Amino acid sequence: MANYSFAKSWQNIPVGARLIRLFLGVTFIYGGWNKATDPGFLNPQSASYIGAQITSYLDTSPISFALKPMIEHATVFGWSIIITEFAIGIATLAGIALELAALGGFFLSITLWLTATWTVKPYFLGSDTAYAVLWLALFFLVRQNTKGRRVIALLPDLRDRREVIRILGVAAASVAAVFVGKRFETSNPTPETGTSIVKEAEFPIGSSKEFVAADGSPAVLFRTKSGVFAYSRICTHQGCSVSYEAASNVLICPCHNARFDPTKDGAAISGPTKIALPKIRVAIKGINIVQI
Ligand code: FES
Repeated sequence: MANYSFAKSWQNIPVGARLIRLFLGVTFIYGGWNKATDPGFLNPQSASYIGAQITSYLDTSPISFALKPMIEHATVFGWSIIITEFAIGIATLAGIALELAALGGFFLSITLWLTATWTVKPYFLGSDTAYAVLWLALFFLVRQNTKGRRVIALLPDLRDRREVIRILGVAAASVAAVFVGKRFETSNPTPETGTSIVKEAEFPIGSSKEFVAADGSPAVLFRTKSGVFAYSRICTHQGCSVSYEAASNVLICPCHNARFDPTKDGAAISGPTKIALPKIRVAIKGINIVQI
């Protein structure tokens, strides 16, 4: 394997590849930073919790079968996503295991497309398809230099001690970046008590609606003949996000199939928990339905 040179890893690729590499490397580091500084991303009580995000993709994603097992280990999965984004970004800019980083970026973008942006129509309004194509283009562009010779190997040469040290350096820098990000956590803007959840006129009897409660946690609002009421969507078993199924009129947890009856104070009616969903106090105030 050719000796590593940061400068040559940039000089030996075409100008277009440099541009794509710079953009993708910076963007993936920024993506990792964005998640690391989000106080809700790894917090099961938050609406932006990675587990809540995965749960929300279950109904629409073509790979929902692969998502279900992840929900239970969502926090670990969230950590690995942040570290992977940092690692791909750092390796891409540094030119360490660059082809591997490009393939990693490609597979991550494809996964995001099949989950987070799958429902965006037309497809070109969602950015993940564009990222996937850019990563694949970068992969092919860095495989060969302008004279057609390969300049960067796909798999790192693990017999090369310095290459191993460089890769470990990328891993260490990625983990360190997460901890630095945690020190710069932004405050989570959450709606205040009294803020309108929905206009009363737009929420007739028989309606249900997911919303973010005043403490930032996911919740669901109902209206029946007897009035308005709401529950936390955080499952009382292990904290996955429950969803309302109108056909059977129950709240169902995707993790271990706990079911809760919204007409009986959120009581657990089957599954591994006997604890009802916590109630959230709501009321009709003027033209709005608000949390009180
Ligand atoms: S977390 Fe286990 S059933 Fe909801």
